[in-house]
Amino acid sequence: MIIVSETPDLQKRLATVRKSGRKIGFVPTMGALHEGHLALIRACRKEKLFCVVSIFVNPTQFGPTEDYRKYPRNLKKDAKLAEKAGADLIFTPTAEQIYPTGYRTFVEVEKLSKRLCGKYRPGHFRGVTTVVLKFFNLIQPDNAYFGWKDAQQLIIIKKMAQDLNLPMEIIGVPTVREPDGLALSSRNVYLSPAERKSAPVLYQTLLQIKNDCEKRGKSLEKTLKAASSRLKKNPLIKLQYLEAVDLNTLEPPENTGNEILVAIAAFLGSTRLIDNIFLKV
Ligand code: PAF
Repeated sequence: MIIVSETPDLQKRLATVRKSGRKIGFVPTMGALHEGHLALIRACRKEKLFCVVSIFVNPTQFGPTEDYRKYPRNLKKDAKLAEKAGADLIFTPTAEQIYPTGYRTFVEVEKLSKRLCGKYRPGHFRGVTTVVLKFFNLIQPDNAYFGWKDAQQLIIIKKMAQDLNLPMEIIGVPTVREPDGLALSSRNVYLSPAERKSAPVLYQTLLQIKNDCEKRGKSLEKTLKAASSRLKKNPLIKLQYLEAVDLNTLEPPENTGNEILVAIAAFLGSTRLIDNIFLKV
């Protein structure tokens, strides 16, 4: 496996891969790799693509009071994990390379970026789509892999690819969970032991909503209300939102038969966790 930090070097190496007839798969990450990221790398390898993993903590997707500075960084450990999972190349540029002095251009997917997390993290998805599009341009992958854990991010990137006619496939990979149901996230390391113990309640709540609506035929609206008030009584959890939306538009679901995404965001102490589940009602 090769580690590359300069874009001309990256492009030279990828040109050689392409010449050899091999397709290129791309797994964008901010490092702090866990089994969720490794599942993306494995999905890419399973399709026999040359697997490029970017490791770049993207400053433009963090708000001024968020954890950009303290975001966990450990390239050596990440490189080992990525190589073991089958990555062929790690691209780890500096912020100055991606956003040189005088950088002015941003990409935004309207409406979708303002829903769910977008309401609470202004500018976040604008930063994500901008950096992802830059990486797409630099790497020109045939396939790009994103986790369903960040469902809104995946839906926004699929929309960007469709709207801008990007010649690649965007592939969603299922969320990887701890045995107790907590979705893997690089931010889980911030949780205190007591917060970690409480954290699975987010997924348990989503499972209960799915079960109540799909199997027991309960009203989605009432089920969501009841779940929110239960969570609000938990002293370790500060619920930010618990919402059901149309999986394609992220707007309130209508009776179209489309799949519904139930998404949750909550703070445990100062750590913000998100999770989601699909349901059909
Ligand atoms: O999901 C992430 O880790 C980031 O949002 C991404 C896609 C790597 C862009 O910085």
